[in-house]
Amino acid sequence: MRTLLFALAAVLACAAPAAAADGAKLFALQCKSCHGAKSTPMGPTLSGVFGAKIAGRSDYAYSKGLKAKTGTWSAENLDAYLAKPAGFAPGTRMLTAVPDAASRAALVDYVRTLK
Ligand code: HEC
Repeated sequence: MRTLLFALAAVLACAAPAAAADGAKLFALQCKSCHGAKSTPMGPTLSGVFGAKIAGRSDYAYSKGLKAKTGTWSAENLDAYLAKPAGFAPGTRMLTAVPDAASRAALVDYVRTLK
């Protein structure tokens, strides 16, 4: 239950439009609760995710929806996933969307730097 509430709070926090398009700040506010330096049940780590195979980590049990996607993460498909996760990958367990395009662009730029 606690985990569920935490997840809900994180999802709600992500629905608020961001004032400043600072990728690192946005990531800390909207993504870090589920995406840390190591994969956890809350989400896979995003280190090295840019250019990597979609749903390709061996230390995380992805949903069938995300596993059904082929290819690697690029600026284009990351933008699409963040804009509408279930639109990009029906059945994905990630519910967090980032409606603001400038915020998405800043986040994608930041995710690109995660080694
Ligand atoms: C409430 C938890 C949660 C939050 C907040 C969240 N995510 Fe996720 N994310 C997930 C989960 C869970 C998955 C795995 C989804 C699946 O298996 O369908 C995921 C998957 C991903 C993936 C695919 C990883 C891979 O290895 O293919 C990316 C990229 C991603 N998230 C980016 C973000 C970004 C950027 C943010 C911040 C805007 C964010 N996520 C916020 C839970 C979250």
